[in-house]
Amino acid sequence: MPMRENVSLKNLNSFGIEANARYYIDIHSEDDLILFLLQHKKTTLPLLVMGGGSNMLFFKDFDGIVLKNNLHGIDVVEENEASVKIRIGAGEVWHNVVMWSVEKNLGGIENLSLIPGTAGAAPIQNIGAYGVEIKNSLVAVEALAIDSAEKKVFNNHECEFGYRNSVFKNAAKGKYIITAIILELKKQPQFKTEYGAIHSELEKQGIKNLSVKAISDAVIAIRRSKLPDPAVIGNAGSFFKNPEITEQEFEKIKQQHPNIPHYPGAANKIKLAAGWLIEQCGWKGFREGDAGCHKNQALVLVNYGNATGAEIYSLALKIKESVYNHFGVHIEPEVNIIQ
Ligand code: EPU
Repeated sequence: MPMRENVSLKNLNSFGIEANARYYIDIHSEDDLILFLLQHKKTTLPLLVMGGGSNMLFFKDFDGIVLKNNLHGIDVVEENEASVKIRIGAGEVWHNVVMWSVEKNLGGIENLSLIPGTAGAAPIQNIGAYGVEIKNSLVAVEALAIDSAEKKVFNNHECEFGYRNSVFKNAAKGKYIITAIILELKKQPQFKTEYGAIHSELEKQGIKNLSVKAISDAVIAIRRSKLPDPAVIGNAGSFFKNPEITEQEFEKIKQQHPNIPHYPGAANKIKLAAGWLIEQCGWKGFREGDAGCHKNQALVLVNYGNATGAEIYSLALKIKESVYNHFGVHIEPEVNIIQ
């Protein structure tokens, strides 16, 4: 388990931001992780756990230990007539998990095709797309406590899932390292196609018989047409969360903007489309140096090459401010800012 010093993270974060880790360690087994944590107890260095690095923005070098979670494996742990439970190592690439389910014709996560990142990171922000969230298929999350190296299993309820939210962003933040997740996939799934773009994509492709693969293919086509590929243009998917506002606040905005897209949110709130708000403020396609707002999806901030984390963040602040000035709505980052 060698620890390396002063390691560049540019190729390890999907924004492609140049930042160095003071120390860096690759973890390939749970036993190694336990050993590491027992050693780590004796230091005061901050610890940053990385999966795919697809939801973080490095503001500067990280003066601590970056731990890359490479725990692998997709194993069937239980099967009955209706469903299959699988245990997935936290370091597996999420899209590969979806492709595994498509190959086996098991449903539940096909709408989550092509979401960047690893399986272990997926429950932290309760990844979601096209009307489905990981919480709909998740049975449990296995983790090790950072301070004791003891194992803890969180069931679905204990994960306290919300929109792009979970216990791992709140009470359990910084306290656990996720080692595996357990999903339950269905043999006769109920497909979720009511999200408009899926309907029209299936029609465009002439698909009449729905299947796990057909939906996955449609989602992949939609995402490829709208979202920049991080291998080509650095980005971390949606930079901001879609904001939720009260009905009263919504009525006020609607008077001036009758066509504003909106959806039901949690607890009687109304969810607005941050991409629409940002586009209305004129940011879509904006570029300053190498930092920009994507031309097809205003919710995605991009690094055209050598933007720094501070430059991207400064653009994000300007966007946030202009959305507030224009609509009186606060938008908050979905991406983790690593200070
Ligand atoms: N819109 C605009 N301009 C834009 C972008 C969007 O007007 O530049 C409008 C669209 O026309 C539509 C509405 O905003 O009426 C919603 O847009 P879209 O369907 O693209 O979804 P989104 O709300 O922008 C969310 C997720 C995405 C997920 C899609 C599809 C969040 C923060 N983002 O985006 O997730 O793929 O729905 O379900 O909830 C991610 O988290 O990284 C991510 C990409």
